[in-house]
Amino acid sequence: MTEHLYNKYVKHMTLEEKIAQLLQLAAPFYDEPGDESEITGPMEELGIEYDTKRAVGSVLGIAGAEKMMAVQKEHLAGSRLGIPLLFMADIVHGFKTIFPIPLAVGCSWDPELAEQSAEIAARESAVSGLHVTFAPMVDLVRDARWGRVMESTGEDPYLNAVFAKAFVQGFQGDNLKEDVSRVAACVKHFAAYGLAEGGREYNTVDLSERQLREYYLPAYKAAVDAGVEMVMTSFNTVNGIPATGNRSLMRGLLRDEWGFDGVVISDWAAIKEIIAHGAAEDEKEAAFKAIYSGVDIDMMTTSYVNHLPELVAEGLVDEALIDEAVLRILVLKEKLGLFENPMRGADPELERQIVYSLEHRKVSQRLAEKSSVLLKNDGVLPLQAGQRVALIGPFAASGDILGWWSWQGSQETAVQLGESMQKVSGAPGNVVISEGCSIDTITEAGLAEAVKAAAAAEIIVLALGEASEMSGEGGSRSDIRLPEAQLELVREMKKLGKPVVAVLFNGRPLDLHGVYDIADAVLEAWFPGSEGGAALADILYGKVNPSGRLSMSFPYSVGQIPVYYNAYNTGRPKPVEHTDNRYISQYIDIPNEPLLPFGFGLSYTTFAYEGFSLSSDRMSADRPLEARVTVTNTGSMAGTETVQLYIRDMSGETVRPVKELKDFRQVQLLPGESRDVVFQIEESQLRYYHSDLTVSSDPGMFTVYVGASSRDTQSATFRLV
Ligand code: GLC
Repeated sequence: MTEHLYNKYVKHMTLEEKIAQLLQLAAPFYDEPGDESEITGPMEELGIEYDTKRAVGSVLGIAGAEKMMAVQKEHLAGSRLGIPLLFMADIVHGFKTIFPIPLAVGCSWDPELAEQSAEIAARESAVSGLHVTFAPMVDLVRDARWGRVMESTGEDPYLNAVFAKAFVQGFQGDNLKEDVSRVAACVKHFAAYGLAEGGREYNTVDLSERQLREYYLPAYKAAVDAGVEMVMTSFNTVNGIPATGNRSLMRGLLRDEWGFDGVVISDWAAIKEIIAHGAAEDEKEAAFKAIYSGVDIDMMTTSYVNHLPELVAEGLVDEALIDEAVLRILVLKEKLGLFENPMRGADPELERQIVYSLEHRKVSQRLAEKSSVLLKNDGVLPLQAGQRVALIGPFAASGDILGWWSWQGSQETAVQLGESMQKVSGAPGNVVISEGCSIDTITEAGLAEAVKAAAAAEIIVLALGEASEMSGEGGSRSDIRLPEAQLELVREMKKLGKPVVAVLFNGRPLDLHGVYDIADAVLEAWFPGSEGGAALADILYGKVNPSGRLSMSFPYSVGQIPVYYNAYNTGRPKPVEHTDNRYISQYIDIPNEPLLPFGFGLSYTTFAYEGFSLSSDRMSADRPLEARVTVTNTGSMAGTETVQLYIRDMSGETVRPVKELKDFRQVQLLPGESRDVVFQIEESQLRYYHSDLTVSSDPGMFTVYVGASSRDTQSATFRLV
């Protein structure tokens, strides 16, 4: 696979040319300062020689067919061996057509639609000249203080793995050389970045090997098994060693154990940051540790360029290691067909036709519909056409609904909630809009205007939330409530004695004190993307029945974090019934349970679960079980129910989670319609990491749970023999 590349390129390259292939520069450092450049990390002068700049292997944050073609043409004109550039960028949930943030997509429980969104993102990216996207981000998350929970699909290893596979397939398709409408995917951040202590950005990660493998690795492994072409290292330590210089993680586990032979790229400046971690005295040692860990591309530092030559000269690094890294990069360029067609899918005319097309935006709207979660509804939703509504709040008429990773997205053309409600409401006059307050400031005048707008209304809809920069990278918050100004607006609006609906635009589960307890209905919109307003208006007016189910728990308060459904039981679990016993695992001031659990979401209709049964109370490796339940739409509106299957191993060699999601089915049911839902339970689903890190199942008792969330289930037991 690589001999011809070695013979044609590598063996003719100077050491400096090889090392330049390992360097990735962001647009402004590539002499291409421009309107599209994407800055996603700390900037400092790099002091790179012109010749090196001309010989780099890849660039970050250049897009636009014409610009990419000009840059590629100029690069090739200066490339002694005619090695084309790789163009990469963060297309995490859409290129110009922005989809809901991944945490929202996780709540759709719809991997097919997620795959379609990735395919569209790839199509728009490839025609604009991109070759690789730094996505999917599949870090498992349990701490809503961390800003990047918005980028993950949530707290469950199984659901994250399902989405990781779907995203990789959507981005890459089946053949990157033949299908130039796809792009190579880069799964990130390897590994366990989501466990940053205290939810504080870039903070220390430290966990047992078992926890790492049981919870945090499955989604990365699913991406690797799905054929992801690239892996990005994480900023954090794993087992006390920075991931980017962690040989056992990168070579031992990723490459040797999992067989990943694609490209590993550092995160922004992460090689040099091994020094700050205190695991390298200088850049030379950092470069040594990274190349020995199998990191191929140095994103945005000069560690490799400045120090690999001397490491080779001193015999500390075998040039063969550098050849290996160069070859992996050339293999990716070959898989993308860049040697034959350096411009690949870049096409200015087609770009004008398909980027941000109505067809693409309709898919974004559909995904926003499926990603929204109805958290509370005391009968005030759906709104009735003709109802006089006051829409009040900082998101009533806001384009800041795309989320943190929406580089090419357009807030200006994003479909806002207010304009959409006015279209759907029967007559524009039925919806009066007033901002009421900004994200974090309320004034008497603004409040007075809101009160006035609400005066003639029958119902008040509050559009509240976080500005997009309050989550995302570098967006950790210690207090995850809505800003006080917005909580004051809620209180003041409630005083008017009318029904209040809250629509939330946010990048994390929030502490909903002051909202959930006051509003009569709460709809979680997350950052719903380019067509978010239209999707939400259709849900609010009942044209769409919400079907989202939380993929990450909403904590009762920040003090409860981390709170997640698949936890261990402890030796003194708090009983369901009340007890005065102090000596149990509890807080004395708040409940143990989250405000809203994993898998939770309401509908405008109701569903009944009947006849839950197992095909036997015994199971063996060669005799799987069936779990069966009949689900009926007992309401008056068609709806989609996500039937969830959890299993608990009642006793293991190590302790086992009180529940583990093992499967789910989405069923669309008309009013009165019933559907038998059957799950196959295999012995392989009961395997887990033992204390010696071997993976197997143990004979013994298991409990099966089936239901509408991790909390609302029916159960039955069986014995594995
Ligand atoms: C950022 C992010 C990473 C992103 C990279 C390139 O620091 O951590 O997710 O892909 O830099 O933009």
